[in-house]
Amino acid sequence: MKFEDVKKIGVVGGGVMGGGIAQVMAVGGYEVIVRDLSDEVIEATKGAMFESRWGMKRSVEVGKLSFDDCQAAMGRVSFTLDLQDLADCDMIIEAVPENLELKQKVFQELDEVIKPEAIFTSNTSGYVIEELAANVLESRKQLFAGMHFFNPVPAMKAVEIIATSQTTKETADAVTRVGEKAGKVTGQVADMPGSYGFIVNRIFGAARREAVKLVEDGIATEEEIDRMMIGGRNWPVGFFAQRGGIGQQW
Ligand SMILES: NC(=O)c1ccc[n+]([C@@H]2O[C@H](COP(=O)([O-])OP(=O)(O)OC[C@H]3O[C@@H](n4cnc5c(N)ncnc54)[C@H](O)[C@@H]3O)[C@@H](O)[C@H]2O)c1
Repeated sequence: MKFEDVKKIGVVGGGVMGGGIAQVMAVGGYEVIVRDLSDEVIEATKGAMFESRWGMKRSVEVGKLSFDDCQAAMGRVSFTLDLQDLADCDMIIEAVPENLELKQKVFQELDEVIKPEAIFTSNTSGYVIEELAANVLESRKQLFAGMHFFNPVPAMKAVEIIATSQTTKETADAVTRVGEKAGKVTGQVADMPGSYGFIVNRIFGAARREAVKLVEDGIATEEEIDRMMIGGRNWPVGFFAQRGGIGQQW
């Protein structure tokens, strides 16, 4: 599947990340279908996509998106509970909870339903992509990559594109260009068996471990470390202020 042939994207899991991903893909010009498991989640996701702080309505209010483009993007998104409705998608972005067995099972189900030439990607925060592809057909493994967005998706610019040893260059390049069409800054990363995380979270994790050690050794307080990193490195927010925030589990 080439970049030019990707027209319809299926987002599997319409939670915090899936809703944001669906939003940026629709604004980027793609037809998007979101699959989740209950009407309640779907209603909440629709609300977040259009009404939340990072939603399309706000983008119109601050002049980042025209009213007509917002209407058009809204018209390109649909929702379903039925996996079969994704059968003709050209590309899948999986965003179900971070659980290896669940993701492997979801990809197995998708492999049986989605057309064989479609690209499969996962928004996992850090699983080895090759392991996520364990249950799909050999031919699909060439079309399988990681596509790691950051939270909140409409606001955070980066997307890491992870290629396994079997991902073709055509697939990695197509996923990269889809990310760029959705307005993102992309970086290609090699899958790394035996590790968890890609560029951003691994570097963040290393710095975070050092910050925690500085506190444990009595070298500085949390507040001092945050203040020094903001003032000395222009960080927008300190480590410790982020603790317990969105997506932070330390
Ligand atoms: N939240 C973050 O800050 C963040 C950042 C980057 C990456 N991620 C990754 O994104 C993925 C999703 O995280 P999230 O925070 O959006 O989780 P979430 O719990 O908000 O959303 C997951 C959604 O998947 C749905 N779901 C579960 N099984 C499903 C299935 N079989 N088919 C369709 N939908 C299904 C759930 O109902 C839920 O709505 C995880 O892999 C996570 O590690 C999260």
